[in-house]
Amino acid sequence: MMESIVVVDFGSQYTQLIVRRVREARVYCELVQHDTPWLQVEHLQPRGFILSGGPASVYEAGAPRCPGYVWQSGLPVLGICYGMQLMAQDLGGEVSLSPQREYGPAEVRVSDPAYPLFAGLPSTLAVWMSHGDRITRVPPALRILAATANSPIAAMGDERYVGIQFHPEVIHTPQGTQILANFLYRMCGCSGTWTVGSFVAESIERIRAQVGSRRVLCALSGGVDSSVVAALIHQAVGDQLTCVFVDNGLLRKGEPESVETVFRRTLNVHLVAVNARDRFLARLAGVTDPEEKRRRIGETFIRVFEDEASKLGKMDFLAQGTLYPDVIESAHPERRSAARIKTHHNVGGLPADMQFSLIEPLRYLFKDEVRAVGLELGLPPDVVYRQPFPGPGLAVRVIGPVTKERLDTLREADAIVREEIAAAGLDRTVWQYFAVLTPLQSVGVMGDGRTYANVVAVRAVVSSDGMTADWARLPYDVLARISGRIVNETPGVNRVVYDITSKPPSTIEWE
Ligand code: XMP
Repeated sequence: MMESIVVVDFGSQYTQLIVRRVREARVYCELVQHDTPWLQVEHLQPRGFILSGGPASVYEAGAPRCPGYVWQSGLPVLGICYGMQLMAQDLGGEVSLSPQREYGPAEVRVSDPAYPLFAGLPSTLAVWMSHGDRITRVPPALRILAATANSPIAAMGDERYVGIQFHPEVIHTPQGTQILANFLYRMCGCSGTWTVGSFVAESIERIRAQVGSRRVLCALSGGVDSSVVAALIHQAVGDQLTCVFVDNGLLRKGEPESVETVFRRTLNVHLVAVNARDRFLARLAGVTDPEEKRRRIGETFIRVFEDEASKLGKMDFLAQGTLYPDVIESAHPERRSAARIKTHHNVGGLPADMQFSLIEPLRYLFKDEVRAVGLELGLPPDVVYRQPFPGPGLAVRVIGPVTKERLDTLREADAIVREEIAAAGLDRTVWQYFAVLTPLQSVGVMGDGRTYANVVAVRAVVSSDGMTADWARLPYDVLARISGRIVNETPGVNRVVYDITSKPPSTIEWE
């Protein structure tokens, strides 16, 4: 039987991390909002609850409350920070404003080392604190388990409930993983059976039950998410899946071929490849505004996709590569950044008037879990570890008007950047690396002659989520090889520059 833990979200910036850490301990875990009704939680059959931190103060009017089913369930509960304060308040203790806000590293002294949460750990722990309130009176049934210099009650608990003032989910609490594992294994009785293999097996069962003998359509972009979705659904329902791959002419060198090889030849998936290069080029003619490029590409994609889908007969389901962070974000519209810098179209944007049910088998996974599933399904590492690539593709890396010739120039230069980064063994550590064709021409000398040709910029960034990024400190000799090869092997380019701006203030893509 599936073991799971439910994390109740009170809005902490670290909530997603709690889910990740629990899954790393091989226990399936999902996040629910503090106002999610039991009816939507029940099917998870939780073995325990974790109450997250959050920015509110429990004693303020309107502060989010702990759902009643948490206490009624009789299951073990771990309260973290705000979650601990809710626990204190709900069970008859007292919370008040701390005389001193505690933020950053702290040292916790464990006064009850035999307590299961601290099993196997030293009696002094380095932890991460971030709170303005603190518990001033422990609920009658609970006892104090640990203290810091500023928080006399840094942990409290009994045999079922435990609250900690610090954050075990962040890396600044080095023993945090062990603390969470102790909660899962020693207090909730989990055994840690959730693995990528078990996820794949369960998903296949679920997809088969959902689809029955009906048909599924999937838009394949060549990216990690849509590739893994296609491979997973194919394993579940075989030829009932049809994939449509739209070659928009804006992909990198070798990509259309690689999609065909992997899916049609290796995995034997029913794949319809559409060459729509001219159609996209025609729609982009003369367009220089980046947002207008995005809009036209998104719209053309939908038109081409509709045309193809209508030729395939009735399809019942549309498969999409939605991931857990998107699901969490859309449950929290206020967490989205208010200013829209760029419209990020997802390839596969759903045509409004098409009649499909959605299948989203990756809806509860994080990116690295998706990669692990891809490997488990036998996708090649170069697909699984593909760097992020924008939906509008090379159109937003050819600065200014997009023509076939300029796309071809960029494709050659970009292939060299990728080859050299891979040859230097940097392709897994650098987040994104690519070439940009600038609208500049500059003077050069080649042989004995003057040239007046294109300037290519090289962009390579390190990042953990694409939200912020720093330019990669590539070794000079790698940069030298990239630059030497680009000017020698790419006709029409006589100068290469390296982009040394971080995000912010720049963005990763130039457009
Ligand atoms: P920026 O350029 O905003 O990019 O720093 C952040 C991340 O998003 C990717 N990106 C896009 N992805 N459609 C996409 O699907 C887009 O229009 C788009 N623009 C940027 C970018 O490659 C980086 O990973």
